Amino acid sequence: MNLLDIIIKKREKQKLSRDDITFWIRGVTSDAFPDYQNAALLMAIFLNGMDAEETAWLTYEMAHSGVIFGLSTIPGYKVDKHSTGGVGDTSTLVLAPLVASLGIPVIKMSGRGLGFSGGTIDKLESIPGFRTALSEEEALAFAQKSNLVLMGQTDHLTPADQKLYALRDVTGTVESLPLIAASIMSKKVAAGANGIVLDVKCGSGGFMKTLEDAQKLAQIMVDMGRRVNRDVNAIISSMEQPLGMYIGNRLEVIEAISILKGESGGDLLEVSLTLGAHMLLLAKAVQTEAEGKAKLLEQIKNGQGLAKLEELLIQQGGNPAVLEDTSLLPLSACMHTLAAPSSGYLTQMDTAKIGRAAQETGAGRMYKGQTLDFGAGIILKKRLGEPVEKGEPLAILYSATEGKCRAAAEILAQAITISPQPAPVPPLILDIIAPESQN
Ligand code: URA
Ligand code: CA
Repeated sequence: MNLLDIIIKKREKQKLSRDDITFWIRGVTSDAFPDYQNAALLMAIFLNGMDAEETAWLTYEMAHSGVIFGLSTIPGYKVDKHSTGGVGDTSTLVLAPLVASLGIPVIKMSGRGLGFSGGTIDKLESIPGFRTALSEEEALAFAQKSNLVLMGQTDHLTPADQKLYALRDVTGTVESLPLIAASIMSKKVAAGANGIVLDVKCGSGGFMKTLEDAQKLAQIMVDMGRRVNRDVNAIISSMEQPLGMYIGNRLEVIEAISILKGESGGDLLEVSLTLGAHMLLLAKAVQTEAEGKAKLLEQIKNGQGLAKLEELLIQQGGNPAVLEDTSLLPLSACMHTLAAPSSGYLTQMDTAKIGRAAQETGAGRMYKGQTLDFGAGIILKKRLGEPVEKGEPLAILYSATEGKCRAAAEILAQAITISPQPAPVPPLILDIIAPESQN
C-alpha cells in the first residue's frame, strides 16, 4: 500500500477502505509521510467528502493514535460535553460542578482558546494556583474522590489529530464536516466517557454559520456515536451574540460563580441547564429534559453546585477564597466604558468580532503559545433586542493599557448594531439532535 494511491482514490471521488484509513493515520502518527502528501489527501477529502463509514473509521483510528483514557476504575456512567467554541461560553464551569454534585462523574479534558473563542483551561488558570496539567493517574485519583476533574488535554491524546489539525489550519482544510466531526469525536472517544453531549454553536460567533450546516455536523457526530460505542446527544445553540455577559478569563470565572450562587442567570444558565440535563438523560438519572433542568436548578438553590466547585478548586490547588472574594482574581490596570453612539435597539452583534475585541484586550491569543492577560476582557451591558439610550454604557473593557482598551473598544463598536426599530431576537436553542431510539 502507498499513500499516493490513496490520494488518487480520493481525488477520483472513491470511497476509502478501512485499511486505507488505518494505513494513513498510522503513518501520520509515526511521521512516515511528508506533509505535502498529507495535505493533498486532506484537500481531496475537503473537496470530495467522506461518507459516514469513512468518517467513523477516521475517528476510530485518530482516537486510537494515542492513549485511550481508561475510566473503568471510576464507577458508574461517565459523561462529557464539548462545545464547538464560542464567545462568553462558560457553560463547562457552570454545568460540570452541577452534574458532578448529583453523583455523576465528569472527567473533562479541555483545550486552550485560540482565535476569537475562549478555552476552559485558560479560564481555570486565571484562578491563582489552579493546576490543569494533571497526569492520568492523578486525574483518576481525583475523579474517584470528587467525581469532577477539569484538566488540559495531555500530549498522549490523539496525536494524529494534533498533527492533522495543525496542517489543516495552514492548508485551508479546516471547514470540512467529516474532518471536523472526526477531529472532535476522536478526542471525545479517547477521553473515555460513556455519554457525550455536544454543543454545536451556530451563528456569527460559531464555527457553523447556518442552521443547516450545524444540523449536518451534529447529525454526523450523533450517528457516529453508535459506530464508536458512545451515546451522543447534540444541542444546537445560537452564537448570534455572546452566551454570557462576561468575556475574558477572570470575568468568565466570576460569571460562573455568580450563576452557581443563584445570583445571575440568562442565556448562559439556560444553555448550561440544557446541556447538563442531556448529560443526566444519557446517564439515565432523569427521564425528561425538564426533570433534568429542575434537578440542576435545585443544586444551585441548595448550594451543592458551588460546594462542588469549591471541592474542585481545593483538589487542583486553586485558591477557594476566590468564591467569596473575586477581587483575589487578577484584574487588568485599565478600564474603559464604551458608550452607545445613538439611541434605538440593539439589533445585531457580530460575535466573532466581539471575540476579536476581547482578544485585543489581551484575553485571547493572537498566536499559539501567547501569554494571556487573565484580568482582561469585556463586560457587556446589553443583549440583542434591548432598547439603548445614546450615551448609555454598552460595555466595559479591561486591559493592561489605555491604548489596548481603546483599540478593543473600537473593534467592539463596529461589532454592535443599534437600529431605530427592534428586530426579532434569534432563539437560543435552535435544535436538539439525538439518536432515533431516543425520540
Ligand atoms: N474543533 C476541533 O476540535 N476540531 C475541529 O476540526 C474543529 C473544531
Ligand atoms: Ca430530535
